[in-house]
Amino acid sequence: TTLAMRSVVRGLALTGDPVATVLGRRALADPYPHYERIRARGEVSRHVIGLYLTAGHGTGKAVLRDPRFGVEPAVDHGGVDWNREPGDEYRLVHPMEQSILTMNPPGHTRLRHLVSPWFTPSALREFTPQVHRIVEEALDAVSARARFDLVAEFAARVPIQVISALFDIPAADQVRFARWGSVLTGTLDGIRTMAERRAVHRTVSEMTEFLTDLLARRRTGAGTDMISKLARSELGESSQGVRELVALIGLLLVAGFETTINVIGSGALRLMRDTELRTALLDEPELAAPIVEEIMRLEPPVQFTLRKALEPVTVAGQDLAEGAMLVVLIAGANRDPSAFPDPTRFDPLRANVRDHLAFSSGVHYCLGAGLARITAAAALRGLFQRMPGLGQAGPARYKQTRNIRGCSTIPVQHTGTR
Ligand code: HEM
Repeated sequence: TTLAMRSVVRGLALTGDPVATVLGRRALADPYPHYERIRARGEVSRHVIGLYLTAGHGTGKAVLRDPRFGVEPAVDHGGVDWNREPGDEYRLVHPMEQSILTMNPPGHTRLRHLVSPWFTPSALREFTPQVHRIVEEALDAVSARARFDLVAEFAARVPIQVISALFDIPAADQVRFARWGSVLTGTLDGIRTMAERRAVHRTVSEMTEFLTDLLARRRTGAGTDMISKLARSELGESSQGVRELVALIGLLLVAGFETTINVIGSGALRLMRDTELRTALLDEPELAAPIVEEIMRLEPPVQFTLRKALEPVTVAGQDLAEGAMLVVLIAGANRDPSAFPDPTRFDPLRANVRDHLAFSSGVHYCLGAGLARITAAAALRGLFQRMPGLGQAGPARYKQTRNIRGCSTIPVQHTGTR
């Protein structure tokens, strides 16, 4: 029966993300009650289609840190063949399917070590003034206007410029990034239409071509940016190595901004609605960091992740066969009352405010967590310091994806008063 269950899961994967199927369309507007119902069924429960689910914090964290679990390419793109005809200049690389995110050790370890030097605490300290400069410039642009879209014109702009600064990519080349990011994350739940399939194919082609060319140009230069150094590494010498670099850089690019955008959006929304919290932030700017943690706990941009049992394993009393798939509902774990008492209360002063799973845990723990924290805190602090009277000018709308949660638009206006 396990085999049968697995083929059902596989079958569903071909028509869309199985997790999306399990969670259902109802869960899209407000997924949180659904995660509560799942936790109420037990630490680990089995859905009829054979997927296992956990919305428990202790179990979720343990599974993510357990080497008996691994990752498998969880995203299916409707059978799109990334490789063009033989003889084509580029072999296409989909960064969500062919990067460290979907690799297990030891291959994962090798590639992760290659890029981790740019994310150490000391590297980040050195980079922080650039993040602040980017935030100030973005604020200069929007604060001159009485009304603007907080997502498109601020929350998206800042992280795109931050990752571009890390890669030393000029502004003219950044114009396509927002579209690439929304196409690649917008289809994480699965590709449903021919139009989506074409959009993904075009995006993956453009990105592969752009990054392959960028690596080729930087390979011969003397640049000290991340791309130049990676291009001059041993991987830059072979076409297989270049493909790995394209996937790695592509993932950094998309993961680097499509997530942080949502923290800035959700954070701004909460701060606009909660006067007390906004006043506290203005009086005590250091509160920005724990406020960002609480935003990520309560509105994690990545709502869940999937793991596969690499061998038979018992989790919270449930026996999982080798190959069984388990969904760690990050957003559910973050509201587990046994880890976070009175879980829906927004409390940046919680003792364990950083103990949420929004950045995952274990070997895939988000490489960009430090950079995301610095960027989101600087953006939210700067936004309200510059525009204390910022308020909504219309309804916010949410993205139509279950895996990634965040606002697609937040119309705002500002009067300049506190
Ligand atoms: C991995 C969330 C920002 C780069 C992850 C994972 C999560 C996550 C949940 C692991 C998924 C899993 O375990 O299956 C977030 C959130 C962010 C954020 C919520 C913003 C608030 C960033 C930034 C960068 C980045 C700014 C890069 C500049 C990566 C990379 C991985 C990763 C490279 C793969 C790590 C690995 O597989 O070893 N992120 N991320 N992320 N993230 Fe982030």
